[in-house]
Amino acid sequence: MTHEFLHLRPDAIGAIVADPAAQPSTIEADAIVAFLTEGDVGSGAMAEIDAATGGVVSRLISAGEITGKRYECVPLLAPPRLRAGQLVIVGLGPRADVDAGVLYRAAATAARHLAGRPRMKVVFVADGWWSTRQMEQAVAGAAVGMVGQDLYRAEKKRTPFATTVWLATPPQAVAHGVIIADGVNLARRLVNTPAEDLYPQTFSEQAAAIAGRTGMEIEIWDESHLARERCHGILAVGRGSSRPPRLVILRYRGPGTRDGQPDMAFVGKGVTFDSGGLSLKPSDSMLTMKCDMSGGAAVLGAAATIAALKLPVNLLVAVGLVENMTGPAAYKLGDVITARNGTTIEVHNTDAEGRIVLADVLDVVRGFNPGRIVDAATLTGACMVALGNDVAGLFTNDQDWCDRVARAARSVGEPVWQLPMYAEYDEQIKSDVADIKNVGDGRWGGAITAAKFLERFVGGIPWTHVDIAGPAFAEKPRPWIDGGGTGSFVRPLVELARGQE
Ligand code: BES
Ligand code: MN
Ligand code: ZN
Repeated sequence: MTHEFLHLRPDAIGAIVADPAAQPSTIEADAIVAFLTEGDVGSGAMAEIDAATGGVVSRLISAGEITGKRYECVPLLAPPRLRAGQLVIVGLGPRADVDAGVLYRAAATAARHLAGRPRMKVVFVADGWWSTRQMEQAVAGAAVGMVGQDLYRAEKKRTPFATTVWLATPPQAVAHGVIIADGVNLARRLVNTPAEDLYPQTFSEQAAAIAGRTGMEIEIWDESHLARERCHGILAVGRGSSRPPRLVILRYRGPGTRDGQPDMAFVGKGVTFDSGGLSLKPSDSMLTMKCDMSGGAAVLGAAATIAALKLPVNLLVAVGLVENMTGPAAYKLGDVITARNGTTIEVHNTDAEGRIVLADVLDVVRGFNPGRIVDAATLTGACMVALGNDVAGLFTNDQDWCDRVARAARSVGEPVWQLPMYAEYDEQIKSDVADIKNVGDGRWGGAITAAKFLERFVGGIPWTHVDIAGPAFAEKPRPWIDGGGTGSFVRPLVELARGQE
């Protein structure tokens, strides 16, 4: 079956424009969204709106009906003297704590609320004290929040606004925010597409379409190419499925960059479905495993945005695509796989498949001699045990590079936390019959032993591994986003390529 996901619709979120000259008091709209810091209307846009409405907002604040607490979302219908059907007041929390992440989520909260039914025109009012970066992220948040996970529903729960207008926002910040949102929404759409529709081949076709649209070079390695390239790890994991594996390699050379080695490489885990293989997952844990290509979706979404922004960077992107299944040819426990770099891997658990796939992808990437590598992967449940649902784990062989990745993530409000890479953990992946085995001893420290496994394949290039098993997929909706794929780590990777973190 083909669904609308196969049609690339960059216009799916309607028109999103800046109107720097318009005033909230005179502009016509279905709804005006304005942002309130905790406590009072302050002296910016909200104070002007309060004055325009004859003090309605400040009276409601005094009465305790509106607080401005984070992500509080209060619609005032038929607000006096405005030419809008409603005024939506979104809380930002204490002004001192407002950052790009808070603005992204606050704008998304209002957009998600309003997108609950069709709207022709929604106006967002930025504030003069926001930085350009913060305005971009607010614009992006609004464009992410208005998109639901309705791909397969006849009756849509969210309808993107026909037109979104940003007041008091430079046109360039609006344009950038929309391009960032396109990358996030692309990643979400790929994650939300079930494995029956999104498998290695169709993922690679999506990548090709995006490459064509944004002017990136693309190579897609099929089974025979993977065999010629000795990618026995990717091939072994893929063998249990009727959908053959693929490796996608994208090249983007930004304006003014040298032709030679890539400045940085983004690597993604693209397990389009993870049944666990013969080490089968229980049904409950398997239910959401269409999300196991979220790392691949993140690097592809980020690349699409980076190319659309024409950032001056020489970038390599690689995604290892497999479906981890239990078919008659499935790889087995006790098998010994010779990875592309010659390392032999004893399989102790076919559910620890991501690291085997990434072993080959990292080695292919290493061959391009990039300056730095970052990989994004829904690699371990252990990382969720360690850090919870909302925080990505960081692991590195190069502290400076890891610090840059962390700063990029925090600058857009995606929480990350670094875990240690002590040499002692290497002992745990030693094997009696091969160079290494694909699990540690027991489950303790499982996120770290997985990272230690990956480290063997980066050949000393500065590298940071990001385990997004927690944040990539939301089982329940949040105020700012519907359940499902979140687009985790698209925005951090974009900021990393911008190099201003
Ligand atoms: N894809 C999973 C990790 C995962 C779990 C992602 C939950 C998102 C949500 C990965 O392939 C896996 O199964 N890891 C195992 C490793 C174990 C067998 C050593 C795990 O974490 O349990
Ligand atoms: Mn697995
Ligand atoms: Zn997996």
